[in-house]
Parts: sequence; structure tokens; C-alpha cells
Amino acid sequence: MVDINETASNLLEKIAKYLEKPYNAMALGGGIAFVILLLYHTRSLGGSYFFGPFFTFLHVVSGITWIGLLYYFNLVQIPTMPKVPPELKPGVGKYIAPEALFWYRWAMVATVATGAIVLMSGAATVNFTLITGIVLGLLMAFNVWFIIWPNQQKALGLVPAEDDEKMRSARLAMLTSRANFVLSVPMLFCMVTAPLVAGG
Ligand code: HEM
Repeated sequence: MVDINETASNLLEKIAKYLEKPYNAMALGGGIAFVILLLYHTRSLGGSYFFGPFFTFLHVVSGITWIGLLYYFNLVQIPTMPKVPPELKPGVGKYIAPEALFWYRWAMVATVATGAIVLMSGAATVNFTLITGIVLGLLMAFNVWFIIWPNQQKALGLVPAEDDEKMRSARLAMLTSRANFVLSVPMLFCMVTAPLVAGG
């Protein structure tokens, strides 16, 4: 006799093991999205008109990864750091922050690249609202690549710097990240409303 409880708990254990790896979880999400694509959009697959919407989807996934991490820095890591006991600070500085910054930087690159593809695909509603959003998004991307990352590298000790240079770099990176936090709100307002508003 098959013990249903045991079979179910073995299955759950297998699923849990699979989900322990974040890339597996990502692949599972992608797989479910692919099933939805096959169920609802099979007819679009052959046609080139699905290209734009598909890249809009990739654009939004990379965009939320980028902006999600920006919100993590501004709402969680930066305000909490002063409260972390000195002996625990390296845990954040050496392990969590470099990993978060890695995803933050490359999600930004993916957002800009997929945004450019959507724009070139002809699927976008190009109006003043979208152009304003793109200008704000590119300004934020510039800040990440040319100000936040080089200064964070010094602040975290990934490149050598004197102590007071480290302090200045950490402050500049923090303030630029705060500026991006501010700009993200009008940028997202423009991105989301651009395809929905008539005219401008
Ligand atoms: C930085 C440079 C960026 C460029 C060049 C760019 C470009 C674009 C383009 C061309 C569209 C299509 C608009 C349309 O369908 O009419 C779009 C839509 C959108 N973008 Fe961006 N974008 C950028 C940044 C971001 C960021 C950081 C996010 C964050 C999540 C974001 C989220 C969105 C969303 C939610 C939409 C609306 C999708 C829809 O409703 O169809 N974008 N973007």
C-alpha cells in the first residue's frame, strides 16, 4: 500500500530542496510564464508583434530588480547600518552589500538594454511622458555606473582608499543613492502612465 502522507511529504521535501537554489526558483517562475504564453498567446508567437510586449515584460522584471534593490538600500540597509554593532558590520559590508550591488548594477544595465529594445521595436507609445521617464531613468543609470558603484568600491574596501577618502566616498554614494530614490518616483510615474495616457 502506498502511504499517501509519506509520498506527499517526500514530494514536498523534493520541492523544498529544489527551491533552496534561487536560480531554480527563477527558472520555475519562467516556466510557469512560458505555459501561460503557450496557453494564451500561441498565435502571437509566429508574428513579430509579440517581440515588443515580450521585451516590455523583460524590461519590467529587470526594472523591479533594480528599483527593488534601490529601495532595499534606502529603506533597509542605509538606515539600519548605524544600529549594527561594530563587530557585525563586516557581515554586511563584506558579504551582503557587494552581492546586492552586483544585482543592482546589472539589473540596471538589463533595464536600460531592454528599454532600448522596446523603444526600437516600435511597440512603445512615444510621447512626452515616456521621454521624460527615459531621461530620468538614464540619469539614474548614469548615477549608478559612474558615481554610486566607484564610490561604493572605495567605501567597502574593494579598491584601496585612505580612511577619510572612504568616509567621503560612502557619503557621496549614499547621497547619490538617495537622489535616485527621489527620481525613481517621477520616473516610474512616467514609465507606467506613458502607454496609458492619450496625447502627451
Ligand atoms: C533607464 C532607462 C529606461 C528606458 C530606456 C525605458 C524604456 C521604456 C519603454 C520604451 C517603455 C514602453 C512604453 C510603452 O509601451 O509605451 C517602457 C515602459 C515601462 N517601463 Fe521603462 N525604461 C527605462 C527604465 C525603467 C525602469 C527603471 C523601470 C522600473 C521598473 C521601468 C519600468 C517600466 C514599466 C512598468 C513600463 C510600462 C510597461 C507597460 O505598461 O506597458 N522602466 N520603458
